[in-house]
Amino acid sequence: MKITVVGAGKYGSTTAQRVAQADYADEVVLTDIIEGLPQGLALDLNQSRPLEGYETKVTGANDYAATAGSDIVIVTAGKPRKPGMSRMDLLKDNAEIVGSVAREIAATSPEAVVVVVSNPLDEMTALFQRVSGFPHQRVMGQAGMLDTARFCDKIAERAGVSPLAVEALTLGSHGDTMVPVPSLATVAGKPLQEVLSAGDIEEIVQATRDGGAEVVALLKAGSAYYAPSSAAAKMVASIAKDTGDRMPVCAWTTGEYGVSDVYLGVPAVLGRAGVLQVVELDLTEEELANLREAAEAVRSKQADVDSLG
Ligand code: LAC
Repeated sequence: MKITVVGAGKYGSTTAQRVAQADYADEVVLTDIIEGLPQGLALDLNQSRPLEGYETKVTGANDYAATAGSDIVIVTAGKPRKPGMSRMDLLKDNAEIVGSVAREIAATSPEAVVVVVSNPLDEMTALFQRVSGFPHQRVMGQAGMLDTARFCDKIAERAGVSPLAVEALTLGSHGDTMVPVPSLATVAGKPLQEVLSAGDIEEIVQATRDGGAEVVALLKAGSAYYAPSSAAAKMVASIAKDTGDRMPVCAWTTGEYGVSDVYLGVPAVLGRAGVLQVVELDLTEEELANLREAAEAVRSKQADVDSLG
């Protein structure tokens, strides 16, 4: 199993670390345009193996030759937000970068399953698929796992319980039209509505939508990477090990929830072939309306994206 991480910034390097430490891959290739950066990080990561007790080798590279024949590719390349920026402000710059990555990966790893994490997420996932020409099933984006983790953690903090006692789900876009789904959330098995007030839940939903910006505002330079890389690594493990786990991902829709022909955050079953199935859950009328609104927001950006990359 060969897994490539494109982009050796904080998100890319922590993703390489998490995937390598999980120790199911033969090799993780970490690439970046900055000379020496991926090589230095690879060297450092490999030297943690005797201490951490894993064998996966990380290779650093500045070109795509080293990535050839990858089974899974994670695309983190692109600029992160600065304080006050929306993810959409990155559209033009990152479209150029992600478009060029898509061409290189299509040429060197034509059978890869691809997880895009570059922002704006839904648009960059669509762009990667179009430019690579890969089947939709093999191109997905990471957002829902991260947004769900943020939602769960904020619920746990407010309810005063362990984050492990909370189950929840976040769908829709990785942006203003994110759709946390309170109706399906539970705290120690109890419906969320029985544990927190409607006002508390509304605040948490909004804080979840703003979760990425909250970190950016504090860091001043760069965006979040610990939780984002955990989210990407979970998806990659599911694909690599062909688990059939269900998780929220940015996937191509073909009529589910009344939405078609757009990339959108939906629950999906993941396996070695990529997205095996999009799952339709029972949502409230309001949640369903919000999900459809998110789909139209992503679709309306699609025309811009189609002229880029
Ligand atoms: C975030 C970025 C990575 O939500 O999109 O933190």
